[in-house]
Amino acid sequence: MAKIALIPGDGAGIEVAASAKAAVKKLTPHHELVEFDYGADRYLKTGVGLPPGQLEEFRNDYDAILFGAVGDPRVKDNAHAREILLGLRFGLDLYVNFRPCKLLDDKLSPLKGKGKKEIDFVVFRENTEGMYNAIGGVFKKGTPDEVAVAEEINTRKGVERIIRAAFEYAKKQGKKRVAMADKSNAIGAHELWGRTFKEVAKGYEGITAKHYYVDAIAMQLVMKPEDFDVIVTTNLFGDILTDLGAALTGGMGVAPSASLNPESTPLFEPVHGSAPDIAGKGLVNPVAMLLTTALMFRELGDEKQAVALEGAIEAAVQAGKTTRDLGGALSTQAVTEDILSRT
Ligand SMILES: NC(=O)c1ccc[n+]([C@@H]2O[C@H](COP(=O)([O-])OP(=O)(O)OC[C@H]3O[C@@H](n4cnc5c(N)ncnc54)[C@H](O)[C@@H]3O)[C@@H](O)[C@H]2O)c1
Repeated sequence: MAKIALIPGDGAGIEVAASAKAAVKKLTPHHELVEFDYGADRYLKTGVGLPPGQLEEFRNDYDAILFGAVGDPRVKDNAHAREILLGLRFGLDLYVNFRPCKLLDDKLSPLKGKGKKEIDFVVFRENTEGMYNAIGGVFKKGTPDEVAVAEEINTRKGVERIIRAAFEYAKKQGKKRVAMADKSNAIGAHELWGRTFKEVAKGYEGITAKHYYVDAIAMQLVMKPEDFDVIVTTNLFGDILTDLGAALTGGMGVAPSASLNPESTPLFEPVHGSAPDIAGKGLVNPVAMLLTTALMFRELGDEKQAVALEGAIEAAVQAGKTTRDLGGALSTQAVTEDILSRT
């Protein structure tokens, strides 16, 4: 039995969390699910995003965190979202942001002549360093001499562990190609990425390691997505490339992710945000969250349930039992029920 923390969050997050809860209850009823109300409402009442001690509790007493989404226009600068989400990712040192980009049905492909066979890769995005460290600031703000500085952090340890995670995954899954994307032709510090990539690759015979500049890989992902199995990259570039990956597979409604560290409590979250434009109307696609739930099942050792859920999702999408974003007419709840009825 695993102990799972469920944090629905805000808006669309709350709706898709209900879908995930239904999937856990049906497919893995042996797990304990504990719900937490962290999000905008609680923040507006208490001024606290993630209370003191909560990280430690998640780290010590929980096997997984299942997260909806956070974001609310009522909270200035989305301060609560940063505190909760970045607090979890950084606080639990979840250095792997794992994002599968797999087309579920040929008809969802935005690329001419590219279907399920061609669009199937995963991205390992570095998740704890890079540009997302709040080191920097604005000097002489509002004056003609204004200067804005943002520093990028790349540590040997951080770069090596994400690259190694990508190769380990390739080895376990029998994938033959690992690509790494940086911008070392313009950002000197990225030389560390290339050097580390080469060194780590030596330990993985039979896997082709190929270096790309990030602009080139962005183009190649659209022209020849079939060239890619596993991609490893920096935090910022991963953020951008995975949205491209989401677009290749049907959009935000179908993009799952996991933030991992083998020595910490993993966090599972759909890529999308709280989608205020459609939240609360039954229009939110639960597929991203259900694929995310399948990733969690797999990580918890429930491989059979993961395969069953992924198969059911694919079947439902292929049968056109979808929400509006994928061309269907069903509600969030109706899609969830259809998918679960196929498991
Ligand atoms: N992980 C997170 O919690 C997370 C991620 C991204 C954005 N956000 C926050 O969410 C809020 C909204 O941000 P945004 O609009 O830039 O991004 P978003 O992902 O919420 O929405 C982008 C677009 O995708 C659509 N969309 C998103 N999820 C969908 C789903 N499941 N089904 C169908 N359509 C879906 C939305 O309707 C919108 O048009 C902001 O406050 C932002 O900071 C949170």
